[in-house]
Amino acid sequence: MARVTVIPVLLILSFFQHMTLFSTVLAREQEDIKDALRLHNVLWATKDDTRVILSWNNNLTKEETKKYTVKYILIYKFFNTTKERKERLQEKEKIIHLKLHSGFNAKVKTQLFAKETEDIIKESDWTEFTYKAPPVYIQNLSCIIYNISFFNCTWHIKAEAPEDIQIFTSYRHVGKVFACQQYIKNARKKNIGCYMKEIHFQPSRKINLNITVKNLRNSSRELSYYKAFTPQAIEKLNPPINVSVSLENRSIKIRWKPPPTIGSARKKCFLYQVKITDHKIANVTAENYKYPFHKPAKRCAAQVRVKKEICIANKIWSEWSEPVFIHDEKTVDILMLSLALFCPLVFLGGLLIYACRRYRCLEVLTTPVPHPSNNIKTWLADESHHQQHMSMQMEMLRGYSGNTRREQR
Ligand SMILES: *[C@@H]1O[C@H](CO)[C@@H](O)[C@H](O)[C@H]1NC(C)=O
Ligand SMILES: *[C@@H]1O[C@H](CO)[C@@H](O)[C@H](O)[C@H]1NC(C)=O
Ligand SMILES: *[C@@H]1O[C@H](CO)[C@@H](O)[C@H](O)[C@H]1NC(C)=O
Ligand SMILES: *[C@@H]1O[C@H](CO)[C@@H](O)[C@H](O)[C@H]1NC(C)=O
Ligand SMILES: *[C@@H]1O[C@H](CO)[C@@H](O)[C@H](O)[C@H]1NC(C)=O
Ligand SMILES: *[C@@H]1O[C@H](CO)[C@@H](O)[C@H](O)[C@H]1NC(C)=O
Ligand SMILES: *[C@@H]1O[C@H](CO)[C@@H](O)[C@H](O)[C@H]1NC(C)=O
Ligand SMILES: *[C@@H]1O[C@H](CO)[C@@H](O)[C@H](O)[C@H]1NC(C)=O
Ligand SMILES: *[C@@H]1O[C@H](CO)[C@@H](O)[C@H](O)[C@H]1NC(C)=O
Ligand SMILES: *[C@@H]1O[C@H](CO)[C@@H](O)[C@H](O)[C@H]1NC(C)=O
Repeated sequence: MARVTVIPVLLILSFFQHMTLFSTVLAREQEDIKDALRLHNVLWATKDDTRVILSWNNNLTKEETKKYTVKYILIYKFFNTTKERKERLQEKEKIIHLKLHSGFNAKVKTQLFAKETEDIIKESDWTEFTYKAPPVYIQNLSCIIYNISFFNCTWHIKAEAPEDIQIFTSYRHVGKVFACQQYIKNARKKNIGCYMKEIHFQPSRKINLNITVKNLRNSSRELSYYKAFTPQAIEKLNPPINVSVSLENRSIKIRWKPPPTIGSARKKCFLYQVKITDHKIANVTAENYKYPFHKPAKRCAAQVRVKKEICIANKIWSEWSEPVFIHDEKTVDILMLSLALFCPLVFLGGLLIYACRRYRCLEVLTTPVPHPSNNIKTWLADESHHQQHMSMQMEMLRGYSGNTRREQR
């Protein structure tokens, strides 16, 4: 028993020995790389109107630069965000659009590769850099293009913004600058949005929005923020047009046409959703949808909406089209006809059952008929009895007033 336990322990021990040996070798090699190279990066940033240019350099000699392929790994993250952006670059600079971020943390390391084999030869340590921008007083900026030529932007003013500011906006598109046509104001008369119309958008060219926060007391204090949009990506389409419903081959068929759009109108660009009362929403890429017909229990409506998805990533759905009711002359006719037939049938059936009960014809029909003459006699007797009863009633009716009628019932 003792041997059996000793052997695994020895094995594990030797395994760990190997592991530690292996990792120390690795660590030494890593150190060797840095020692041998004595690589050192320097980072700096310059800002122009709309962007920050992050640049770096290293102290490689000319010979080293010639001898190896030099690449850089850049990782950066905007303040107060969680997403880290990682890039492998050969250039020694990166243009960063701050948009509404108040700064970023970045780090760069240099890697040397053998030109022939592409094997990594050496790499440097990370060099870190923090860029802090002037304060940003607005957030939640969002812009939308709708009905082809309308353009809305809205934003929120941060609580920490000074009281005596006002916000102005303009945009540049295809080389021209346009001022906001009509501001949307909040209760404190601050501009919190802009509404523009009759704009001709070039779908593939960017809209460069300029939001400027001005200090009303001191005109020399102003801050501008910039954000670019691709028109097609912020377009909210109108609902699909010419939506129609028909009944075909025991299924409901809904057809429609795509709405006009500023961008590509190729069929494959559009994604549709079809909503039929009490049914799950269905995704459709064609311009029609066939729904297996299970006799609609009540009047149901069909609606369609659309967005672009395949040609361009767009998250904005159109409004739903006006509901189109599923009703067809034929179905209605058939329904009315069957109702018209069904009601009298039920009524007649009821009458028949009543009459049968009354005249016990069911008994006649169900009981075996050993002595037909007897049965007929009883039936005739019953009939004559009934006739007697009837004539008595008639007399009573003639003789007495209305309250006798109540007794009859
Ligand atoms: C690069 O800079 C580091 C740190 O300043 C220094 O130790 C090293 O000698 C320099 N290497 C070259 C090739 O100049
Ligand atoms: C955003 O990040 C900056 C820098 O990291 C920090 O000083 C600031 O407090 C953060 N703000 C919020 C609202 O988290
Ligand atoms: C506005 O943006 C902030 C941070 O950027 C976020 O926490 C907040 O939920 C947003 N508010 C709305 C209404 O979208
Ligand atoms: C959409 O645009 C057309 C033409 O520009 C205009 O006649 C129509 O009123 C607009 N519809 C809406 C809902 O703004
Ligand atoms: C755009 O702004 C105008 C004016 O405030 C508003 O009436 C309209 O509903 C907005 N449209 C969209 C799609 O946000
Ligand atoms: C943005 O707008 C402000 C205010 O109109 C202006 O001073 C600034 O030059 C504009 N920025 C650019 C890049 O055009
Ligand atoms: C306006 O702002 C500038 C820059 O911040 C400052 O130098 C100047 O003194 C201010 N002027 C007034 C009247 O406050
Ligand atoms: C939509 O319907 C109207 C009227 O029926 C018709 O004139 C128009 O051509 C149709 N549009 C499309 C794209 O089919
Ligand atoms: C109806 O369905 C049958 C079989 O499912 C098919 O043969 C026929 O072509 C269809 N008719 C139409 C008008 O779609
Ligand atoms: C329909 O498409 C949307 C957008 O692409 C997607 O989010 C959703 O999950 C899809 N629904 C179904 C039922 O496939």
